[in-house]
Amino acid sequence: MTTAHERAAQLRAELAEHAHRYYVLDDPTVSDADYDRLYRELEAIEAEHPELVTPDSPTQRVGAAPSGAFDPVTHRQPMQSLGNAFSADEVREFDARVRKAAADPEAPVAYAVEPKMDGLAVSLTYEAGVLTRAATRGDGATGEDVTANIRTVRSVPLRLRGDDLPALIEVRGEVFLPLDGFAAMNAAQAEQGNKPYVNPRNAAAGSLRQLDPNITAQRPLAVFCYALGAVEGYDLPATHDALLAQLADWGLPVSQHNSIAESIDACLEHYTQLLDSRGALPFEIDGVVYKVNDLALREELGSVARAPRWAVAHKFPAEEATTTIENIEFQVGRTGALTPVARLKPVFVGGVTVSNATLHNMDEIARKDVRVGDTVVIRRAGDVIPEVARVVADKRPDDTRLVELPKACPVCGSDVQRTEDEAVARCTGGLVCLAQREAALRHFVSRGAMDIEGFGAKLVTALIEADLLHSPADIYSLTADQLAGLERMGEKSAANLVAAIESSKQTTFARFIFALGIREVGEVTGRSLAAHFGTLDALLEADQEALEQVPDVGPVVAAHMQGFLAEQHNRDVIQALVDAGVNWPAPKAGGGGALQGKTLVITGTLDGVSRDEARAEIEAAGGRVTSSVSKKTDYLLAGEAAGSKLAKAEKLGVEVLDLAALRALIAA
Ligand code: IVH
Repeated sequence: MTTAHERAAQLRAELAEHAHRYYVLDDPTVSDADYDRLYRELEAIEAEHPELVTPDSPTQRVGAAPSGAFDPVTHRQPMQSLGNAFSADEVREFDARVRKAAADPEAPVAYAVEPKMDGLAVSLTYEAGVLTRAATRGDGATGEDVTANIRTVRSVPLRLRGDDLPALIEVRGEVFLPLDGFAAMNAAQAEQGNKPYVNPRNAAAGSLRQLDPNITAQRPLAVFCYALGAVEGYDLPATHDALLAQLADWGLPVSQHNSIAESIDACLEHYTQLLDSRGALPFEIDGVVYKVNDLALREELGSVARAPRWAVAHKFPAEEATTTIENIEFQVGRTGALTPVARLKPVFVGGVTVSNATLHNMDEIARKDVRVGDTVVIRRAGDVIPEVARVVADKRPDDTRLVELPKACPVCGSDVQRTEDEAVARCTGGLVCLAQREAALRHFVSRGAMDIEGFGAKLVTALIEADLLHSPADIYSLTADQLAGLERMGEKSAANLVAAIESSKQTTFARFIFALGIREVGEVTGRSLAAHFGTLDALLEADQEALEQVPDVGPVVAAHMQGFLAEQHNRDVIQALVDAGVNWPAPKAGGGGALQGKTLVITGTLDGVSRDEARAEIEAAGGRVTSSVSKKTDYLLAGEAAGSKLAKAEKLGVEVLDLAALRALIAA
């Protein structure tokens, strides 16, 4: 008789095998229905015998609770970056440097050739074959713990296949969104009235950095593994291709498009092939990576700065396409900035259809001499919004039209102003302007600001249209009935929203300042202002001089703050928000908190609290948190596995605290 324990183990192994065949090899041997049946059987056993649930059970991919923040993770071995080459000449120079280090500088060197995936680097730690940690690259030394999110990526094995597994390996790879998954995500965004993701890379980043892993689980993320970091209890093979074969044997996803080139000439041929076939690939790549195949030669070559000397990324040129400008319109942003946008005859560039391209500002239009009716080259490079690269002069028809900066805002009709020293023109309407109001409200509810869950762009628009939303304070008087009255809003969603609005009232001073959407006052400046002034009253009283005392605040930002606070209607909004119950922890009494005026740096993994939580404690006590240790640092808060920052603090004689010592200091 098979025991429940044995059957569960059997099911886990079988399900892992099927998932591997399906998600990694793309060669399933059972139907989805059969898979589901096995999965449900395992679920049933685990429900009856919770003690049989193991961390590598396929049922444990989803269901982890949302986290407040991502904890820092120090990589056992730093995650390096790659040097770039933009031409065949630069690639040959790279090869010449490599050959100099080889035994025979005349002999060709063999390279592993891989597509350069346009995604995000991750490090997967397997201990005795079990996935124990997944982290983003971060600054290369310290990344963020995204274990719960990576566990939801079906092609990432929770346990490696085979016996005799290494005691520990850090597997490095790229998380990305295949193009079909990207298209599906954007269709869903459009459905919910949200802005589409600009490109698969951004969408992958957004998906990986979800605080709620259940959301990540719905995103079709994929991973390709391409390197190792730290290893313990495993002897590396002699070559990179043997290493990749080993990774694949362990069940890790490895790109099918990798190959070996026997010389740099062969590398360049691969490059041309990949460049030609890039449009047919099911994912985005932004170049080709060449890596010395012989691992011993790599050792000889070593690294410079943060990149190995044995590898190079040969980047693809930016993608361009030609089309015509049908119109030029002006968009009004949150701060009133008018951005000229070219409406194009739709054109396919780099995997997406582009029908709008930015012209940045009036100076750009003049410099490039862009007119309505012109034939133009549209450029789309990596992350950036498509832009008009240049006009095709000899295709200019006789009837092109020059655009002028409108005197009145195209949305609200208020005056448009352009100061001498600024390239940007702005609508002076402030919150009277619907475009600015909408953008300001969207900002107010957004994640880094008041963070009202479920309050999307479409809802903001709908509420403005329904005349229920004029200023941010109106959000706090919305009722479930009013919300349920909106199109496509069920009673349950309305109730959830009211709850989310209610819980957003409990915030931090820094978030509140950021949420106000003052020009140039981002999250970091918001935190500095909050730490410096401590209370709203102190901030409201601050004059230009007092504002300039704040670290990170220069004359320009101080002037924007002043300008904002000088407007009575802005002060009214602030008062209305406070009256509505928006609140935050007061700084500790006595000189505005025990850490008033002190600058701290946080490093390493703290016991039981995330970095954001520690930061909040420090800021509530009047302290300020910066990212790098210098002579100006008063304390270093160091957790487990603190690295270079700790060394630097010790060198500079900066006092080092653990969490307990910090709390004692705050309490004192
Ligand atoms: S190897 C020590 N291989 O490109 C070398 N990186 O621009 C580590 N990338 O940070 C990187 N595809 O995120 C390597 N086949 C590939 C890659 C790849 C994409 C990314 C990776 C890296 C960045 C450097």
